Amino acid sequence: MKKIFTLITLTAFLFLKVTAQEISLDKGWKFKTGDSIQWASPTYNDQNWKPISASHSWESQGYPNYDGFGWYRLHLVIPSSIKEKSYLKDSVRIDLGIIDDNDEVYLNGKLIGKYGGRGGDIKTSHYGPRSYVIATNNPAILWDKDNVLAIRIFDTGGDGGIYGDDHKIIMADLMDNVSFNTDGEFSFGDKNSLSKAIKLISTSKYLYKGKLSFTVTDPENGNIVYDKINDADFTAGKPFTYTFNIARLDKKSYQINYTFTEDKSGKSKNKAELTPYMLTPYVTAKPRINGPDVFGAHPGNPFLYLIPATGRKPLIYEASGLPDGLKLDANTGIITGVVTQKGDYPVVFTVHNSLGSETKKFIIKIGDLIGLTPALGWNSWNAWGLSVNDKKVRISAKTMADKLSAHGWSYINIDDGWEAPQRTASGEITPNEKFPDMKGLTDYVHSLGLRMGIYSSPGPKTCGGYLGSWQHEDQDAKTYGDWGIDYLKYDWCSYSEVTHNPPALEDLKKPYQVMRASLNKIPRDIMFSFCQYGMGDVWKWGAEVGGNSWRSTGDIEDTWKSMSTIGFNQITDGPYAQPGHFNDPDMLVVGKVGWGDNQRNSRLTPDEQYTHISLWSLLSAPMLIGCDMGKFDPFTISLLINDEVIAIDQDALGKEAHQAIKTDNYQVWIKDLENGSKAVGIFNTSDKYQTITLNRNENELNGYSKIRDVWQQKYLISMGAHFVTKVAPHGVVLVKMSK
Ligand code: GLA
Repeated sequence: MKKIFTLITLTAFLFLKVTAQEISLDKGWKFKTGDSIQWASPTYNDQNWKPISASHSWESQGYPNYDGFGWYRLHLVIPSSIKEKSYLKDSVRIDLGIIDDNDEVYLNGKLIGKYGGRGGDIKTSHYGPRSYVIATNNPAILWDKDNVLAIRIFDTGGDGGIYGDDHKIIMADLMDNVSFNTDGEFSFGDKNSLSKAIKLISTSKYLYKGKLSFTVTDPENGNIVYDKINDADFTAGKPFTYTFNIARLDKKSYQINYTFTEDKSGKSKNKAELTPYMLTPYVTAKPRINGPDVFGAHPGNPFLYLIPATGRKPLIYEASGLPDGLKLDANTGIITGVVTQKGDYPVVFTVHNSLGSETKKFIIKIGDLIGLTPALGWNSWNAWGLSVNDKKVRISAKTMADKLSAHGWSYINIDDGWEAPQRTASGEITPNEKFPDMKGLTDYVHSLGLRMGIYSSPGPKTCGGYLGSWQHEDQDAKTYGDWGIDYLKYDWCSYSEVTHNPPALEDLKKPYQVMRASLNKIPRDIMFSFCQYGMGDVWKWGAEVGGNSWRSTGDIEDTWKSMSTIGFNQITDGPYAQPGHFNDPDMLVVGKVGWGDNQRNSRLTPDEQYTHISLWSLLSAPMLIGCDMGKFDPFTISLLINDEVIAIDQDALGKEAHQAIKTDNYQVWIKDLENGSKAVGIFNTSDKYQTITLNRNENELNGYSKIRDVWQQKYLISMGAHFVTKVAPHGVVLVKMSK
């Protein structure tokens, strides 16, 4: 009896202690739509504001369809006892649940934290969990007195406000200040060994002393293949660096766990990541001609095509059968000129080096269609967001020329953030100070045999709040033409403000028709890419309105949920893909991404990245690399230079794969190729290893007996009716099947 009593008292005491150490922010909030900086002030009188719950969006509490600014205010006392009772007394954490989309947080009128999606801009979409840590000696906190917490929120669309659960103020945990920086590069050594340096970082002056445990697990069977424990001491400004080197790994991902345990408190923090592995074979020294088999251009416009070829340098290029008006630079492989006569021109390319030569048949189609195969290139958005500038674009162009153009990559596209705040007196758009010489930049990109793209929106403002092309379409198209632009990504943002609400189908088409007409007046081949997220089933009318591609989805993020939901849902739009007109499931999220100045490794695992590139290739999607190419790592490069994978994307038939099998655990997508073979992606959508069996006697695969592993570029020996293959979690086996 006594024992039980003691237990009850102890539990009650612990409970009280825990609750006393945190201040709930679940109740007591007041709310007002609109925006005024005075609402941050502790002395502002919010008596007439309406109460609101922090558990549900404002839409569900009397503000249906409200997008824009809204403020939340809460009066509360922050007792100093929470500080005294805490282990580490130096900082306080404010947990705000989910904020949709972006916020600025004021404590007693002082800004203590803010969150903005695109380059920190509050007016952009980036909803998600929010926690802010501030020092206990921050004068914004009035200990034991009345405090006012005011939160300014901007919602771009859909649900808005504060929601979720567990809103509280709590003393920061010892481990809140500790983080692992695992963004360093993996280096591949002999016999598939792997090494990397990671850092344990603290923002607190506390001296952390403890142990770092490092384990490598084989996710196929759960076996630990390597483990090591090291002493680890670190404090603010003095991180602990741990460099590991694991020998002889198989060609698959292993799971690495890093766990730091502090000696005194016993508290720990961990992080896990999966190791990259490369399947793409080394590029051979013998000459090899890559890229598509066909290229389309309009008669009378400047022509530019770089013959993509690999092999030991120097390479010497030849082309026989070029139409009148074109000439090839034998040392660079760049073909330029103007062809005036429409027609299909069969050409033979030859590339030589000291080890031999290779030839390839190619067709130049001079006519009404451009973009016969999906665009391959780079776009600044997923890497740099609004912080793109001339230097970053030049680095990207140079990197593309050095590492990727030999495999067919050619577009360098500047996304939002290049536009000056005002048009000239005569209404012309000019670049802002980040792009001092747009024509010079374009000339540089062209000199490398690459093409240049730009971004705008049909509304008065772009999505990033820069100037859009509204009522200046002709002028803007002319400016693009004068600069030498080859690609225009044309968004939708803010066009809603100048059209009917909700827009009818004609309203959805109109801005693209208007800009199409303006581009048609310019003597350049400008690829026209619609970016209106699939509204009005754009795939049904995108081609007729003159789009070379159209976004079929909202913006992608570097998560499995985002990438796989987008990729595996390209179903109804699939049949509309055709040469010159492709569905665009958004840009790639491999390599270092960040949508702003802070870059980090893509959160997709290596197998998810194989899925991403394989699926986009099967979907005949434009592939626009969205990372900082100046910081390419060997794994990311290996994903982007696999010529047999790229050939599936660039297949001249221009068809899109269809979903042939879908179960709860895996999917099979099949794409018809021009030479009669089929590209087949076997995707494991579960989070466990799976052995998947494909019946080759079934339907469309009947008779396709030869199987080539596309990533590894080798034929597989597989007898009988069943092709049995092991597929990693969220991974893929991509094969080409032929008769
Ligand atoms: C939209 C597009 C993005 C990017 C931004 C620029 O969100 O979908 O790809 O172009 O606008 O502001």
